[in-house]
Amino acid sequence: MSSHIKWDKNSLISIEPLSDTEIKSIFSLAQSYKSAAEHGRLKFDALEGRTVINLFLEPSTRTRLAFEIASKRLSAETLTISGDASSLSKGESLKDTARNIVALGADIIIMRHASSGAAEYLSNTVDIPIINAGDGSHAHPTQALLDCFTLTERLGSLKKKKVTILGDILFSRVARSNIHCLKKLGADVTLAGPNTLVPKAFESMGVRVSHNLKEALEEADAIMLLRIQHERQTSTHFPSIGEYTTSFGLNERRAHWLKPNAIIMHPGPINRGVEIDSKLADSEHSVILDQVKNGVFVRMALLHLCYAAHKNQTISITEPTN
Ligand code: CP
Repeated sequence: MSSHIKWDKNSLISIEPLSDTEIKSIFSLAQSYKSAAEHGRLKFDALEGRTVINLFLEPSTRTRLAFEIASKRLSAETLTISGDASSLSKGESLKDTARNIVALGADIIIMRHASSGAAEYLSNTVDIPIINAGDGSHAHPTQALLDCFTLTERLGSLKKKKVTILGDILFSRVARSNIHCLKKLGADVTLAGPNTLVPKAFESMGVRVSHNLKEALEEADAIMLLRIQHERQTSTHFPSIGEYTTSFGLNERRAHWLKPNAIIMHPGPINRGVEIDSKLADSEHSVILDQVKNGVFVRMALLHLCYAAHKNQTISITEPTN
């Protein structure tokens, strides 16, 4: 059995331009890669002979490795450069860096950058697919897609499902991308945390802002925890880490407020004992490592789709057979 996927986007910079149908297409292809892996097939030839460059100008463990693994499973050559190790540290502009990477033979660039807007700028600068692996506080679209893929695995359709995002929303690209993705899939989103990090202004994105933690946890089918993004904060937004944990950390007492089947999520890196109690991070309610695992399949799907669109190719999904 095979079906065709409709997809015309060369690059992925943010969730906003995607329709719910396109998001579901990514999930279908990711699911077919996941099913194939479960049947023992890890290697595909979708990017055979192609070169994927990971340009990571901020630290990363999960995203960078997941993209490297995804590229290799699609048979691409993959190379990673970091900010310190590149000539950006000698004053070269991002534009010149990117044009040189293309001249060296790159077919796709995956970039993480500290500045909001950097990925869009890059996509307007070079004529190859660009995938945003996180830009400042703006967007982390592949994280949101893998989060929502993991949620649909657990909850089925996200229509009317209640998802609470708790923590440093103000500085979080993960929160912004997840708000867009969850809403496109029909979920009801509540943001919770200190009012300095979760201002009411977020309500203009069609979400509820709550400073009543008990209420925000009691209603949730899933809770997404976020760490404090110290690297983006220029001043403190609460008195101390200890006081944040006391007021907003998910501990065992507060976990009793959750529904019995509520799912606990976190994009990582987790700060055990700060935003989440260590036992809860490892509990049966936690899908944190499922999120990481699914990141490979979702990124395989995106690399495949964006490169195929760049080459005007159609993609068919074939269900794996035993
Ligand atoms: N979730 C996430 O982006 O993790 P890394 O910073 O390790 O890539």
